[in-house]
Amino acid sequence: MANIILVGAQLGDEGKGKVIDVLTERADVVVRTQGGSNAGHTVFVGPQKYVLHLIPSGILRGKTQCVIGNGVVVDPVALVREIQDLERLGVRVNGNLRISEKAHMVLPYHRELDACAEKLKGKQSIGTTRRGIGPAYADKISRTGLRMLDLLRRDWPLRLREQVRASNRLLRALGGKPVSLAPIEAEYRRAARRLRPLIVDTVQLLHDALDEGKQMLFEGAQGSYLDIDHGTYPYVTSSNTTAGGACTGSGVPPNRIDKVIGVMKAYTTRVGGGPLPTEDATIADLLHGMGREFGATTGRARRCGWFDAVVTRQAARINGIDEIAVTNLDGLDTLSEIKVCTHYALAGRRLDRVPADLDQLAACKPVYRVFPGWSKDTSTARRWNDLPRNARAYLKALAQLSGAHLAMVSVGPARDQTILP
Ligand code: GDP
Ligand code: IMO
Ligand code: MG
Repeated sequence: MANIILVGAQLGDEGKGKVIDVLTERADVVVRTQGGSNAGHTVFVGPQKYVLHLIPSGILRGKTQCVIGNGVVVDPVALVREIQDLERLGVRVNGNLRISEKAHMVLPYHRELDACAEKLKGKQSIGTTRRGIGPAYADKISRTGLRMLDLLRRDWPLRLREQVRASNRLLRALGGKPVSLAPIEAEYRRAARRLRPLIVDTVQLLHDALDEGKQMLFEGAQGSYLDIDHGTYPYVTSSNTTAGGACTGSGVPPNRIDKVIGVMKAYTTRVGGGPLPTEDATIADLLHGMGREFGATTGRARRCGWFDAVVTRQAARINGIDEIAVTNLDGLDTLSEIKVCTHYALAGRRLDRVPADLDQLAACKPVYRVFPGWSKDTSTARRWNDLPRNARAYLKALAQLSGAHLAMVSVGPARDQTILP
């Protein structure tokens, strides 16, 4: 184990929470570095299900130090709610969680602006999680955002008032509902009381941990194709979800990173709008019929398609993925044939990359290689050789097509449903 960045290699919900939980057994520090409560990372500990939105999944292992880095946008009220939910389930959250003083805050007007922007886009709406993520990052980039440290300052009410005024002007212009200052002030003051001891200089904390030789795990949120630069713009989220984001979002430099792991499902899913070239009703009906592929944050049915190796290959390049973890293999157990998109065909020509122009991407036809299924339950497999031969061949092909080493296979949501080939 070393310092590892873990990213989603597809479009989010790849099973990062499950893989992080498995890897956390040997990590000292788990760090979130981008995104916010738009993330929903599911972890099962025995029969107990946890869905983490802002808090690193390492929190479920008592001794792990969890850090919400400077690159995350934090809704303090949602964070306190998440802490309380965990505490109700017997998870201790205190000294083991630290939040960057530099992390920007999500405020109620961000959520309102998010909803408003989506409404105005009509049919072209992104299908955001409505957690206010885009508007919060917009304020950060516009240099008008409020940071966690502002919550602790004496002049916080003044700063908040200024921002509420500005945002309400914008909301009115967009036909949205203005927000009221007083309840926000009161609610955020309550959250500040709970969070005050947790808000620190996390850059210092992380560098002290590096000096002590501690092992770090950077928990990516969303997926590579939701990246603001590299994703299917504008159907993306507002942060860098790819490996570089882990460094800027934590203050840990690239030369302290030892390995990048890309998590990918054995098929593809997407929640919200935007292109999904391999989308397929057969596989969607199959998975939804099993009660699978409903969003962990919004409960929306996820769109489903075949594995797209064009996407994972490009993700491997952009992130520098050394190893892949393939999850949800068991979702394909009952299929007699399984398709994998190896490349696209565009106007009769072969295309090996995802075009930036969405009209071009829409014109791309996925070219499939068909694999024989294994028609056998894989969820009880615990070793590589327990897997049916066809499943092993399928997994090897995914790794080869993606251009990275296969390091982990997941055959169920539980910790022990994990195979290290
Ligand atoms: P994340 O956002 O990447 O952490 O993924 P989500 O938690 O949103 O969605 C992944 C879903 O798949 C969750 O319900 C997990 O419990 C579940 N899961 C993860 N790996 C496996 C697996 O190998 N098999 C099955 N059946 N479910 C899995
Ligand atoms: P995890 O970490 C899947 C999607 C939304 C929408 C787009 C923009 O659980 O993998 P946003 O609210 O971020 O402005 O929405 O991004 N999205 C996700 N899809 N998993 C996620 O996180 C996502 N976070 C955002 O559905 O299409
Ligand atoms: Mg998720």
